[in-house]
Amino acid sequence: MSDLKRYHMIQECINVLRKKRKVNYFEIGVQTGFCFFKIKADKKVAIDPNFIIKPTKKIRAYIKNLSNFNNRFFELTSDDFFAQQKDYIKKIGGIDVIFVDGLHLFEQTYLDIVNALQYLNKDGVILIHDCNPLTLAASIRAYTSEEAARIAPAGWANIWNGDVWKSIAKLRSEREDLEIMVFNTDHGMGMVRPGKPEAMLHYTDEQIEALSYNDLDADREKILNLKDPATFTGFIKKFAATL
Ligand SMILES: C[S@@+](CC[C@H](N)C(=O)[O-])C[C@H]1O[C@@H](n2cnc3c(N)ncnc32)[C@H](O)[C@@H]1O
Repeated sequence: MSDLKRYHMIQECINVLRKKRKVNYFEIGVQTGFCFFKIKADKKVAIDPNFIIKPTKKIRAYIKNLSNFNNRFFELTSDDFFAQQKDYIKKIGGIDVIFVDGLHLFEQTYLDIVNALQYLNKDGVILIHDCNPLTLAASIRAYTSEEAARIAPAGWANIWNGDVWKSIAKLRSEREDLEIMVFNTDHGMGMVRPGKPEAMLHYTDEQIEALSYNDLDADREKILNLKDPATFTGFIKKFAATL
């Protein structure tokens, strides 16, 4: 397993843009702030209906990373955030980098990405966690990790990615204006940004619904446009060169 983690990848994307200007970072699904507090950006926006952030952890995080002093927290679902905070998102200059890691159901992840695209600056990037489940048990549909653990399907190992992967298959089937890939690290880090697709998929909505974990397992390279994590450095160079 690669050592390349979500927070390294998010930070590298931010650093590229930060050479040009100030950068806004958004995170959907923040929980304890494990990832969110590490990130350095000019403005950071946290969205979660149920933050679990201990005050002591918050204080430590602020001392360690001064960019936390520019944080805004919205204790809302992502749908409510996008419905209620349109003016705020525009006022702060739109979205530069967003990490989608909220409800791990494919239709919600798809909606989070589509909503984020409305405010994404043209050189912005959307990163998505949990795009590459490695077992059937990890890909189970549930509303929370606790629910997934209660169902405890055969092979359950306390890893829950849900069926987020289908949002990648759907977007790759319908959007000719987006570059989409998944880096094979940290449960599968999806990347979506304005640009030309390397290749399209041709699934209908009905076919996406019907896809199973076995279908993914049989063809994950093609369905996800799965990339070796070693190629992330090349991606960052290309990203920087296109600015
Ligand atoms: C896996 S955790 C996030 C972990 C965090 N991004 C990290 O890397 O440390 C998922 C979070 O998504 C939140 N969540 C669930 N439904 C959501 C929704 N509809 N909108 C936004 N966040 C949601 C949960 O409350 C939970 O805190």
